[in-house]
Amino acid sequence: MPELQELPEEHIFQAYGILLLENKHRFVKKLKKHYTPSIHGHKTWNSSFLLMDYLLHSRILDSKQKVLELGCGWGPTSIFCAHHAGCEVTGTDRDDEVFPFLELQAALNEVEIKTEAVSFENLTKKHLKQYDIVFGTDICFWDDLAKIHYNLINRAKQAGVKHILLADPGRQPFFDLAERVLSKHEAELLDWYCTEPENFEGYILHVTL
Ligand SMILES: C[S@@+](CC[C@H](N)C(=O)[O-])C[C@H]1O[C@@H](n2cnc3c(N)ncnc32)[C@H](O)[C@@H]1O
Repeated sequence: MPELQELPEEHIFQAYGILLLENKHRFVKKLKKHYTPSIHGHKTWNSSFLLMDYLLHSRILDSKQKVLELGCGWGPTSIFCAHHAGCEVTGTDRDDEVFPFLELQAALNEVEIKTEAVSFENLTKKHLKQYDIVFGTDICFWDDLAKIHYNLINRAKQAGVKHILLADPGRQPFFDLAERVLSKHEAELLDWYCTEPENFEGYILHVTL
């Protein structure tokens, strides 16, 4: 069972060893007066907890790896990777209004996450070749994103990335992507559940390149 951490104040919650902020937290409310994420990056999404759980089980993380998050939003899984394994992590997102929320949560957990405003489409092989692991949580939610991620996975393979991990609650574009990826690459689509901060079910697509 996980260690029970004492929560420092209200509207903070714990999951997989890290502390995260609810929308009602006083600092989040303050940031929302100045920053307005506009592509669904306005909270921590539950698929991030699925991937934290999977990363603990799969044991692919270690401190030597360089990790890139796609569509990081408030960066919960990036923070988990830096906190749990001490990896060097970069969070990317097309919407730079999400980064103040990521930085606030990173500071709460005493980790540093690099950030870069770049879209999935503009992540080149040159970008990707710096990384061992590339992951994303709840980032395949529109029909056109299935093709965009399929092309990104192909670029990542050419760039020498070793693992791509995507977690999703089970949206149709994610299944469309998974079907194409499973027929081309060594990959697994897993039903997964997590227990922190509460029970949640979804899917992990693990591509081994
Ligand atoms: C549903 S949120 C998920 C956020 C975070 N991964 C999580 O699980 O809490 C989707 C994120 O993808 C980002 N995003 C959407 N389209 C994008 C694109 N084309 N390139 C990069 N990021 C994008 C959004 O800004 C948002 O932060």
